[in-house]
Amino acid sequence: MEYRRLGRTDLRVSLASLGTGGPSKMGQNRGATVDDARRLVRRALDHGINFFDTAASYGDSEILLGHGLAGLSRDDFIVATKYSPLADKELKSPEGVQASIDSSLERLGLDYIDVIQVHGLMPDRYDAIIEQHLPVLLEAQRAGKVGFLGVTEQAHDDVHHETFKRMAADGHFDAFMVGYNLLHQTAEQDVLDAAEAADIGLIVMIAVRRALGNPARLREVIAELKAEGHLAADALPDDDPLGWLVHGDVESVPEAAYRFVLEPSAISTVLTGTANPDHLDANVAAMARGPLPPEDRARLEETFGGLALGLGN
Ligand SMILES: NC(=O)c1ccc[n+]([C@@H]2O[C@H](COP(=O)([O-])OP(=O)(O)OC[C@H]3O[C@@H](n4cnc5c(N)ncnc54)[C@H](OP(=O)(O)O)[C@@H]3O)[C@@H](O)[C@H]2O)c1
Repeated sequence: MEYRRLGRTDLRVSLASLGTGGPSKMGQNRGATVDDARRLVRRALDHGINFFDTAASYGDSEILLGHGLAGLSRDDFIVATKYSPLADKELKSPEGVQASIDSSLERLGLDYIDVIQVHGLMPDRYDAIIEQHLPVLLEAQRAGKVGFLGVTEQAHDDVHHETFKRMAADGHFDAFMVGYNLLHQTAEQDVLDAAEAADIGLIVMIAVRRALGNPARLREVIAELKAEGHLAADALPDDDPLGWLVHGDVESVPEAAYRFVLEPSAISTVLTGTANPDHLDANVAAMARGPLPPEDRARLEETFGGLALGLGN
């Protein structure tokens, strides 16, 4: 496993990391048991994964992750969780933020969260968060409940990463979770260089998601892009539109998708949101094989690099 620095947190995070949200949520929607979740987390650790992402709003994921990590030395893993900045569409009270952090600690069974993230922050709420929530986050940091502060974006609605631009400018946050995949490449212009300059660690989400993990969904997405004039009719085949990525040591489209996003040096870690142990094995092995062949990356940039649609679902 390759390890990279998570920006100025100086944490060494595994390049492949485990996400406990997204469509799979540790298998919660398909009847996974606590034992299944524990086995998934242990398998991730066996692969050298040391970074785990969860959130207060991912159903029981914090609890399941806590079971998986129970009994381990605290130095063997890094946990990032999130609080939801809104309650009933209004900004959460400072007390509500504090309560969410305390609840996450309890559900995870930990006395310390490595990175607390503002979940899905839209740019129009940024100032209010700095004014009303940041003092609570700093107090939690002083109290030793959290190590570092992060923000995650809403990839579909903030396609040019305006929230990131705000946070990179003021220096309050240490890490950013960015929506980046081969269909949604705007981070390459809007985020990567600025993150390196500000020494902000970048955590990739939605590298595969539905569009790149499910062949029927991919056909639909490509057909829509053609119908709406975003892609020329002959840009890609209608059937198996990204099948040309599967050659040499690239065994599948999801593999190509994970290998696409790990290439830039600004990327610290790539979340895989799988609940399937075989997919976990395959995804870790895929990322260990490194970036895509340059000519394939170039074709992906030529084909999708001009789109700013927040694709992934
Ligand atoms: N705004 C936010 O804060 C935000 C938003 C989205 C995500 N996140 C975080 O980012 C993490 C990653 O995003 P994501 O969950 O969308 O992850 P992802 O890794 O991009 O996609 C996960 C989906 O791909 C499938 N998949 C994974 N490997 C596969 C393979 N080898 N072959 C076929 N299908 C495969 C998974 O199904 P299986 O379970 O069947 O493998 C799952 O449906 C989340 O878990 C969450 O922690 C945060």
